[in-house]
This record gives sequence, C-alpha cells and structure tokens, in this order.
Amino acid sequence: MTTGPQLIQGELRLEGVPLREIAARFGTPCYVYSRAALTAAYEDYRQALAGRDALICYAVKANANLAILNLFARLGAGFDIVSGGELQRVIAAGGDPAKVVFSGVGKRRDEMRAALEAGIHCFNVESASELDHLNAVAADLDKVAPVSLRVNPNVDPKTHPYISTGLKTAKFGVAFEDALALYRRAASLPHLRVRGIDCHIGSQLLDPAPAAEAAEKILGLVDTLAAAGIAIEHIDLGGGKGIRYQDEAALSAAEYLAPTLQALAGRKEKLLLEPGRSLVGNAGLLLTRVEILKPGSEKSFAVVDAAMNDLMRPALYDAWHDIRPVMPRDGAPRPYEIVGPVCESGDFLGHERALALAEGDLLAVLSAGAYGMAMSSNYNSRPRAAEVMVDGERMHLIRQREDVAQLFAQESMLPR
Ligand code: LLP
Repeated sequence: MTTGPQLIQGELRLEGVPLREIAARFGTPCYVYSRAALTAAYEDYRQALAGRDALICYAVKANANLAILNLFARLGAGFDIVSGGELQRVIAAGGDPAKVVFSGVGKRRDEMRAALEAGIHCFNVESASELDHLNAVAADLDKVAPVSLRVNPNVDPKTHPYISTGLKTAKFGVAFEDALALYRRAASLPHLRVRGIDCHIGSQLLDPAPAAEAAEKILGLVDTLAAAGIAIEHIDLGGGKGIRYQDEAALSAAEYLAPTLQALAGRKEKLLLEPGRSLVGNAGLLLTRVEILKPGSEKSFAVVDAAMNDLMRPALYDAWHDIRPVMPRDGAPRPYEIVGPVCESGDFLGHERALALAEGDLLAVLSAGAYGMAMSSNYNSRPRAAEVMVDGERMHLIRQREDVAQLFAQESMLPR
C-alpha cells in the first residue's frame, strides 16, 4: 500500500482527499498528515519487533500534536520525552506514563518531580550530576526513581554533524569508559533504582551498521555490569532511522533493524526504541501557495506563503524536501528558487526546482511531518500554520491556524 500523496486525475491527493480542498477549507500554509501513513509507519516497527519483548517509544519532539500522540497511544506506543511540557502533552493525549522514558541533558528538578509523580517508566540520565539531582528529588517525594544511563558508544553514525549525537565530543550522554563507575554510583544511591541502559547515536541514519555496532558495545557493557552485580532489565537503543527525502534508499524497520536484532539474539532484556522521524516524517506535508513570481536573468524566485519559520530544516541543515505542484500545469518548467517572505537570505524551501508555475498555484513540500511544525516559530510575527489530518475521505483540523492577537497575548507594555 502506498501511503504518500498521489497524483490522481491531475491533482495531488493525500489518501482520498484532494489537497486543493484542504487549502480551500483551511487556508495555507497548512501541515497535512495522513492517518494511514502514520499507522503504517508504526505497524512497520511493530512487525519488525514481532515476537520480541519490546516497546516503541515515539520521540515526541519530532511532532508533538495531540492528535498524533493520541493516535500512537491508541496503537499502544510509549513515548520518549525531553521536557515537562512533552510529559503534559503525552498525558493530555491519553498516553500511558508507565510507558514514558525521559531523555535530555538538562532536566530541571520540577520536571523530574512531575515525571516521578506521573510514574514514568525510566529516566535516561545523562550526567553524574543528574544522578544526584534525581536522587534528591526522589528522596523529597519519598520515591525511588527508575534510571538508565545514556552511554555514548562512540560510534560514527555518518549523518549531518548537527544531528550526530553519539560521538565522544557530543554534549549528550556519559562516556563509555565512565559508565561502570556511574552505574555503581547509581546503584548506591538509596532513591534510585537501576532499570536499564540507553544510547542514541544520531538521526536520519541510513546505514544500519552503526546502530548494530552501538548495540554490540552496549551489550558488552550490560555483561560487564552483570558481572559487577548490576542487573539491566531493558536496553534502549534510541531513535535515528532515516527516511527518504530525495533519493535515499529508505529501509523498512525490519531491514534497518536486522543487524541490530541479530546482535540482540538470545538476550533476555526488553528492547526499547525511540523513533521519531521514521514514524511521522513521510506521513506529513506542508501545503503552501505561490504568492509572487519574480523572474530574473540570474535566478527566478517563487515566493510562497510558507517560510523558514514554518519549516526550518532547509535553512538550518540545508535539508532537501521534494516540492510538487498540487495541480501540475502544462508548460515548460524553469528552475525556481522556492522562498518564503521572511527577511533572511536563508529563508528558502528549495533551490533550483524545475517547475511550471503561475501565481496562486498550490505546492506541497513533502516529507515534512517530522521536525516541521515542531520546530516552527513566530519569527516576523507570523502566526503558526494550521494542521490537518486526513483519514480516508475525511479531513480533521487538528490545530487551528494561530491569529496575530494570540502572538502578543502574553505581552504587556510598561506602566505610564
Ligand atoms: N531519542 C533521542 C534521545 C533523541 O535525541 C532523538 C532525536 C530521538 C530519539 C529521535 O530521533 P529520530 O528517530 O527522529 O532520528 N531537528 C533535526 C533532528 C534532531 C533530532 C534530535 N534528537 C532534523 O530536523 O533533522
């Protein structure tokens, strides 16, 4: 089954819904997600892990819309959170706190408290200091906090340096060499209970080998810990599986995880994964309208109504997203710079895209379901886009378009 947008009778549709109708009803810019694609991505993982004691903890940061969290909760997912805000979202969306892992290098004490009170599955601890903070907070509440240490296996994930996280030089996690001593320390603290071990080496990983190499290193450490009398119940291997943006060979979860699962063969520990992008990335697109065409001798610009504040990935990582006309027109394509109206030269969605365009045309920026809306901002006082989920023939507004009054509702002027 194909779950991406499809050109049918001259126009692009997502599931049974023409994107033109979504733009007419909800306006642009607008994020559009496919329920079928979200479900298929989750099922892809579930099948890859069939017959194994495993928990898929969706990385909320990739897309935190309540409807998406609710959908994954209904499918049985757990969640990987990195803030108190994400915890509140998961709970509001009907997620089970007992299936939540809490990652992040700088958890505040109030966030630790909220997570302890909610009864989360595990804290992924990233420093010696955090062990002490968490022990103190748990003592205050007269609770025992379940912990994993996030260990850096020092594996090169071969991805963009901004999203590569498991190297020695990263701010994340604790050094592999320090892990045994820190686990001993965790085991000695009265309000901590060692539950698991964790790693996350990076994002948009296309080669399955680094993940398997990380898993092997982690397993070696689990055995060392066992010999030291420290039992590990679960192994959390983080997220990171890449998706197809352009011409990447996108592996299924089963293909991507095969070498990792082979490394784990015969192990009794429960397996946790924290996929973000691979669950939502290809299930969403950003719908935008061409406002202005600006032909030039050097370059021709198509100024659209979505901008870097809506989708930051091109500006931030020089990331490539496919851009397709919603109703392709006849005529010779010419190379366009697809840019937004924001006052920055870095405000582009695509360079040199060969398209036949007229003002008013709708474009779909594909593979925008992950780290799209989640990283959007109000730069240039631009209200954030609407979000819509299609489900068969139906469309549901899952986030209203912001209005400008909401943007300054929290502000106040000095007294006279
Ligand atoms: N677990 C941890 C601890 C993470 O830091 C991340 C992502 C994930 C899981 C989920 O990784 P995924 O399966 O999505 O690769 N904004 C960037 C991506 C940043 C990823 C940050 N951490 C982008 O747009 O490419």
